[in-house]
Amino acid sequence: MKIVDVIEKKKKGLALTEEEIKFFIDGIMNGTVEDYQASALLMAVYFKGMNLDETTWLTKYMVESGEILDLSKISNNIVDKHSTGGVGDKITLMFLPLMAAADLYTAKLSGRGLGHTGGTIDKLEAIPNFRTDLSIEEFKNKVKEHKTAIAAQTLSLAPADGKLYALRDVTSTVDIIPMIASSVVSKKIASGANHIVLDVKYGSGAFIKTPEEAQKLSEIMVEVGKRLNRNICAVISSMNQPLGRAIGNSVEVQEVIEFLKGNMESDLKEITYTLCQTAFEKTGKCANKEEAWKYLDEMISSGKALEKFKEIVASQGGDVAIFDDYTKLPQASIKYEVKATCDGYVKNIDALKVAKACKNLGAGRDRKSDPIDYSAGIYLTQKYSEPVMAGETIAVIYTNKEETIKGAEELILEAFEISDEEPKAQSLIYKIIH
Ligand code: URA
Repeated sequence: MKIVDVIEKKKKGLALTEEEIKFFIDGIMNGTVEDYQASALLMAVYFKGMNLDETTWLTKYMVESGEILDLSKISNNIVDKHSTGGVGDKITLMFLPLMAAADLYTAKLSGRGLGHTGGTIDKLEAIPNFRTDLSIEEFKNKVKEHKTAIAAQTLSLAPADGKLYALRDVTSTVDIIPMIASSVVSKKIASGANHIVLDVKYGSGAFIKTPEEAQKLSEIMVEVGKRLNRNICAVISSMNQPLGRAIGNSVEVQEVIEFLKGNMESDLKEITYTLCQTAFEKTGKCANKEEAWKYLDEMISSGKALEKFKEIVASQGGDVAIFDDYTKLPQASIKYEVKATCDGYVKNIDALKVAKACKNLGAGRDRKSDPIDYSAGIYLTQKYSEPVMAGETIAVIYTNKEETIKGAEELILEAFEISDEEPKAQSLIYKIIH
């Protein structure tokens, strides 16, 4: 078999066989498929798609490209959560300590920034000395001891996804439903959880633009999970506007700590609590929303969730001094305030424009080997439905690259839509697919 023939077949819109998909994944792993050939196949899949059988085989061989964790000796109630990617999406960093505080085990394999979206691993690496390169043994031991651990994809767990993920990031091939489905589900299967809760985003700041497409992606992931014997459910929510106020690595870690201290932005609370509630219902921890949200409020007000986050940071080598002193996190040398140009209420903040501004400030990558600037970011001082006055600060830019400020300011001003009327409160959740 030759990879060029597999690419040609997909280019013509034909379905690949199980053998061809296995050949592709094996080739990525043993180096017989070059990056440029994998990129060509990815682009062909972008235009011609993949059916459910192809997506299932792709997922299966991505899982089999590495080890599959067996956590059954620790618990049969292990939860995992994964987002399809967003802007200001720091939910994992609140979800994990809340679950651990609720005595539920989570084992989390996460990714770096992808396309315009941020990645949990990049956010955690903003914490001085935080280690995400855990070996399998370390990962398991930490889950056992602290009820949770979070690791970057290593050579051992779903490594084929790791390679494709990095390639997709820099070849404009992220927003492909079968690729997102196989990427997410393969990581979740490899990391050994038995309850998988997916946070599926749609909107300007997501890879999937409409709720209908998000539903299609969710249904595919739930079905692929079923075919590979995993119980998956998906919470679909809007990512038209950034989540929370902070976008960027260091600033987002700071916002997470504030959340766990009880200073919760309502959008972050809605998504985090709904995902935790779904996990509680799946594991039998709580019976309904009322019970779950009350329990979560207690985990926050008692300080248990904050203590758990500290424990996670300490257990993975991170500097816990950040909890009391945010200047211990990477700091940008330039802080620049963006001012409103008219009076009114914030009707919308386009997440994609804010993400692009943030990436240009240094928070994201253009090539897979690019370093990122953890201190670069944006803080939205005004959010949806809040009043603004001309000349008032609506966002703060953090960067070390002076030449990027003007472009970022323009994008932020374009992102803000100001209206005369006060917009109504809105729920971000579209649907939950079980
Ligand atoms: N998250 C992933 O892990 N993979 C994708 O392809 C998109 C989001």
